[in-house]
Amino acid sequence: MSVFGDGLKAEIEGFLKRYETRRSAILPVLHAIQDVHGWIKPEHIEELHTVYGLDRVHVKEVITFYDIYKDKPVRKFQIRYCKNITCHMLGARPAIARIREHIAALDAAHGEDGAFSLEEFPCLGKCDGAPVMLVNKERVEHATVDKIDQLLTKYAPTVLR
Ligand code: FES
Repeated sequence: MSVFGDGLKAEIEGFLKRYETRRSAILPVLHAIQDVHGWIKPEHIEELHTVYGLDRVHVKEVITFYDIYKDKPVRKFQIRYCKNITCHMLGARPAIARIREHIAALDAAHGEDGAFSLEEFPCLGKCDGAPVMLVNKERVEHATVDKIDQLLTKYAPTVLR
């Protein structure tokens, strides 16, 4: 029995057929796994190797090379902020401080199971919307403190009360 489940298995096989070599399908395959499971588990790597013939060392190298891939459990909502100068000049700092306040409060109330994590990224590629953040795959432009409050409430209305 596959660790991926039928839907994800079909998606992975689709990517492997679509690309000229199996190895070149690795990025979309890892994205698909992470979208479903939140992170890439050792058993995922093992099945990619044993069932689909992807070299396990290569898979691990790709996961550790790209910050976007996670090889450890992650919180439900991952917030990424742009650490580049344009976003900082246009007000990222107070918005980041506000997120940290929320996370600290949630962690104090819920322990390690707080809903959000925060990490910095180099330019998120939408500099005209600075300051820019991502909450999972949703891009947030012009991230003011008020917008942050609304956003976090939208994602976790019950934990933020
Ligand atoms: S500088 Fe922040 S998105 Fe480019």
